[in-house]
Amino acid sequence: MKKIAVLTSGGDAPGMNACLRAVIRGAIYHGVEAYGIKYGYNGLIEGDIYKMKSYSVSNIIQKGGTILKSARSTEFRTKEGRKKAYQQLQRRGIEGLVVIGGDGTFTGASVFHEEYGFPIVGAPGTIDNDLYGTDYTIGFDTAVNTALEAIDKIRDTANSHDRIFFIEVMGRDSGYIAIQSGIGGGAELIMVPETSTSIDDVIFDLNQGRNTEKTSSIVVVAEGDEEGGAMEVVNKVKSRLKGKDLKVSILGHMQRGGAPTAMDRIIGSRLGLAALEGLLGGKKNMMAGIINNRVVYTSFKECINTAKPLEQDLLRMVKILSI
Ligand code: F6P
Repeated sequence: MKKIAVLTSGGDAPGMNACLRAVIRGAIYHGVEAYGIKYGYNGLIEGDIYKMKSYSVSNIIQKGGTILKSARSTEFRTKEGRKKAYQQLQRRGIEGLVVIGGDGTFTGASVFHEEYGFPIVGAPGTIDNDLYGTDYTIGFDTAVNTALEAIDKIRDTANSHDRIFFIEVMGRDSGYIAIQSGIGGGAELIMVPETSTSIDDVIFDLNQGRNTEKTSSIVVVAEGDEEGGAMEVVNKVKSRLKGKDLKVSILGHMQRGGAPTAMDRIIGSRLGLAALEGLLGGKKNMMAGIINNRVVYTSFKECINTAKPLEQDLLRMVKILSI
């Protein structure tokens, strides 16, 4: 392989730049020409592709977001879109692709590989940490720390006013950010899509908390919880928590930004290089991940189709530690 390209796709995640840097510098180290594709699969379809040098990725390891920009491409979901994308690669003689993103990115890559047999290796970049085949995804650690900082601040004001705060964190289908930031922030209750917490349980837990000396409480709600986001949960509980001062705080996209933590810079670098070297070594249709601190490769199909379970023990711990 003498020419490869790289793109970032789906929701951006802190550490994507560190990952991109590793792909580009790794390629140059191995004597391979490297191309960057802007705006994910949309840029691939449009031919928004440019040659990258070592200096193209200077001074980016500490930056959040992605210098390649990102998109959720609807056109790449169509046969015609993928055909255009293939033609763009052919025209430039690009022989392999590294894609940095989440499950949507790998679903697209897998279909593209099936249709054209084009070699693609992925690196997991999403704040959600919801990909099977890796213990951590790039961006997750930063997002958890951002949410935690916000929870700590909210706790100060919750405590001063004896209030119950329902804090919504990201995670459309996944409770990883909620669990980690909730445990780190000492939440009384954490609601995640992977397990069901009924409204009766919420009322019971909060009343029980109020019967002890606790005067304020934090409930962390993952946006994809089966009872809804924080606003919906509060609407469901408010008539049964009369006299209590309930507040909602939705953290939103601030969780996706900011300088990556040391961990995200390091796993971003490791996984970028692993994806690149996997590709050059003949791997295709696979994602590079880190399990038990070792690099492993898992097929896109397995990553997409296998659920990544939450540690039930962590949920048990929340119950014990919040009494
Ligand atoms: O996939 C990462 C994520 O941040 C999810 O947690 C969230 O549900 C989604 O992206 C939001 O996507 P968008 O920025 O496209 O609204």
